[in-house]
Amino acid sequence: MTDAKQEHWDEVYRTKAADSVSWYQPTPGPSLHVLDELQLPASASLIDVGGGASSLVDRLVERGWSDLTVLDIAAPALDVAKARLGDEALRITWLVADVTAWKPDRRYDVWHDRAVFHFLTDPGQRLAYRHALETGTARGSIMVIATFAPDGPERCSGLPVQRYDAAALATELSSAFALEHDWREEHTTPGGGRQSFQWCVFRRR
Ligand SMILES: C[S@@+](CC[C@H](N)C(=O)[O-])C[C@H]1O[C@@H](n2cnc3c(N)ncnc32)[C@H](O)[C@@H]1O
Repeated sequence: MTDAKQEHWDEVYRTKAADSVSWYQPTPGPSLHVLDELQLPASASLIDVGGGASSLVDRLVERGWSDLTVLDIAAPALDVAKARLGDEALRITWLVADVTAWKPDRRYDVWHDRAVFHFLTDPGQRLAYRHALETGTARGSIMVIATFAPDGPERCSGLPVQRYDAAALATELSSAFALEHDWREEHTTPGGGRQSFQWCVFRRR
């Protein structure tokens, strides 16, 4: 299962320019905005789960964040980000892993997931994701998550997705995580399409 998923995503990043994929953002605006609102210190640790070639870590390095990790199933995605960052890439931990098979060996202050959890259409995969999430966070850790909203697309990158509103995400994450803030975003794709996203901020109890 992991092999087929990995091949799919490797192929995506090998064949498409990073700024042409539907989820591309010139600036990771909602993520930066929410991290600013939370007033987290630059010493906070953050993992971008399924971070792909996102420029979130570029912007956080610029802001002085010093404990950053990007995990993705697709090594070619991380290669794009590393090439873009140059020497700054050495300041980031890069992990090639399927989050549903990954066993974190440390805990993070912030777990960031934009458009990854919604690919887990099987309850067993979601359970495995939650195991990783619970191992990789501690009491007080923040989870910032964005999925397609109920009126968002039914597929992304050719794969089916599960769509959520804030209440459904809270139910998925169980009582271990308290919902602190939620909002919707209309993302504009590079092709000019519109996609409804549901964003949530949870704090681990
Ligand atoms: C829609 S893209 C979003 C990328 C990035 N978060 C962003 O906002 O630009 C989904 C990303 O999740 C990664 N991914 C998909 N399934 C994964 C899994 N099971 N474990 C880790 N990464 C995964 C893909 O390789 C891809 O980079």
